[in-house]
Amino acid sequence: MALWAAGVRVLTRHLGIQPESSAVLLGEIIGSWLVLNALLLGLKTWYRRRYSPFRDIPGPEPGPWLYGHAFDIFDEPLGRRITDWGNAQAYPHGLMHFFGLFGVSYLVPTSPAALAEVLSTRAYDYVKPAGFKRFTRRFWGHGIVSQEQEEHRLHRKTYQAVFNQGNIAQARGPLSTKSRQLVDRIHGLCAPSPSHSAIVPVTQLTARVSLDVTGLIALGVDFETILDRNPQVLEAHEALFAGSRDKRTLFALYNAAPRWLGGLIPLRVARRMDEASRVLRGACRQAIRSRAAVKANGQRLDFVAHLVQQGLYDEEAAISQIMVILGAGYESTGGTLAWILYCLATHPDSQAALRQEVRSRSRPMDESDYEALPLLNAVVLEATRLYPAFSFLLRKTIRATAISGRAIPRGTYVALCPHMVNHARHLWGPDVEAFRPERWVDRSSPAGPKLDATGGASAAVCMLSFFSGARSCVGRALALALMKRQVALLVDHFQLDPVGGTPQASGLFATSPPADLHVRFTQVR
Ligand code: HEM
Repeated sequence: MALWAAGVRVLTRHLGIQPESSAVLLGEIIGSWLVLNALLLGLKTWYRRRYSPFRDIPGPEPGPWLYGHAFDIFDEPLGRRITDWGNAQAYPHGLMHFFGLFGVSYLVPTSPAALAEVLSTRAYDYVKPAGFKRFTRRFWGHGIVSQEQEEHRLHRKTYQAVFNQGNIAQARGPLSTKSRQLVDRIHGLCAPSPSHSAIVPVTQLTARVSLDVTGLIALGVDFETILDRNPQVLEAHEALFAGSRDKRTLFALYNAAPRWLGGLIPLRVARRMDEASRVLRGACRQAIRSRAAVKANGQRLDFVAHLVQQGLYDEEAAISQIMVILGAGYESTGGTLAWILYCLATHPDSQAALRQEVRSRSRPMDESDYEALPLLNAVVLEATRLYPAFSFLLRKTIRATAISGRAIPRGTYVALCPHMVNHARHLWGPDVEAFRPERWVDRSSPAGPKLDATGGASAAVCMLSFFSGARSCVGRALALALMKRQVALLVDHFQLDPVGGTPQASGLFATSPPADLHVRFTQVR
């Protein structure tokens, strides 16, 4: 810009057309600079679209010249348009291509082999987009979701030590306790009604249990929001993590505006989120400090205790990771659980069969029963398949790489779309849109039904809700353990019926059910 200004001054002096005032000169400099940039951008867009190395890869129609499908991909519910494109034609090399803003190319892996390459074999050839990382760093702190390469590899090991199956198995008792608190809460809502029923805002309640559980595993502290305690924590948590229209706008600005502008955006929502972040970090700090004595007693392993044990503890760095755990587990687990309850309410046959399976076990159910019941596991996985919490996530190559034998240059955007993969007819068959838990139950053995780990698809990666490989969800075992307990207890205690029309998913990163999703619960026990 400074160079351009100097050039304009020299040129106007040379041509003898110097403006009368410095304000006019400034206007000329800025105006001509904008025109030049628009021309360069137009040229770049034309070049990218004309000579894209991916033009031979199938995909939707190219879309408008200037912005391609940029608006389609961020349209709510996230991932829906890509799903339509995925089912509209065949993708022989496991790749789809479309244009976005200013002719930028996006590739979408569609086959299990291409997905495995991007997510596992060559996972560290990719990073998350800079706008996403700036956004999460400002409001959550620098945790595992914004860490890359060696830093990510290192911290992931710390997470795995806490979130592995063995450690989560030790936490089954507290998970069952939290699930019973949810059941008790709904009993409380039904109690005054002569019909023993209540219309329950499920998304709001399931989010609270998720927050309590993530607090337990992250900090070793139960916020007890399901019991209406710590309202300031719940409020800050919602302000920070729940999706909303103004947060979407802010996120879009972080992605589209230049880096230096991102931190200066004076939007009210940004200030609200800064304040919420301050409150939540403060609550975490207080919780950590007040439990120093508990740690010395050697209690069950939580994230903070693990860091202390390993000599890795640094308070501010730990709080950033804890914020990530609280955020990553909140909308995803709470939202998915709400979708499961909605699916059961709208599929009374599956609900009745599940109730029968749960009641076939002695009461209270043994902790190991939750893993063993095939239909319970199937119901949870099938709803999680249909409603993946993260529907669309972007990556960018940081070095030249390859997908399905095709060279992919550095700087290429690769879109991962769990919604498209989970809804792909070529992977799941013609009934892909149906809620059919039976696809996860293998009845071929005379020993009795058991869980089919891939749901009848050809590979585990076809169910992409938890991702796969190097950046897969570390909280998978915890989320499944919690959701199974809640679903089993709820269908044992209540009949679930739908209320209102078809709910629409929305959200910032996680695709959640609407905040006002209601289900009618009627006591049957
Ligand atoms: C149904 C519930 C859940 C779903 C569907 C889900 C899904 C996902 C997905 C798709 C990712 C990859 C995101 C990306 O790479 O951009 C992810 C990452 C992550 N999840 Fe989950 N998640 C769930 C629950 C949880 C819970 C309960 C926790 C923790 C308490 C958790 C912690 C994390 C963390 C820390 C990461 C980052 C992993 C990394 O970058 O290496 N998630 N999750």
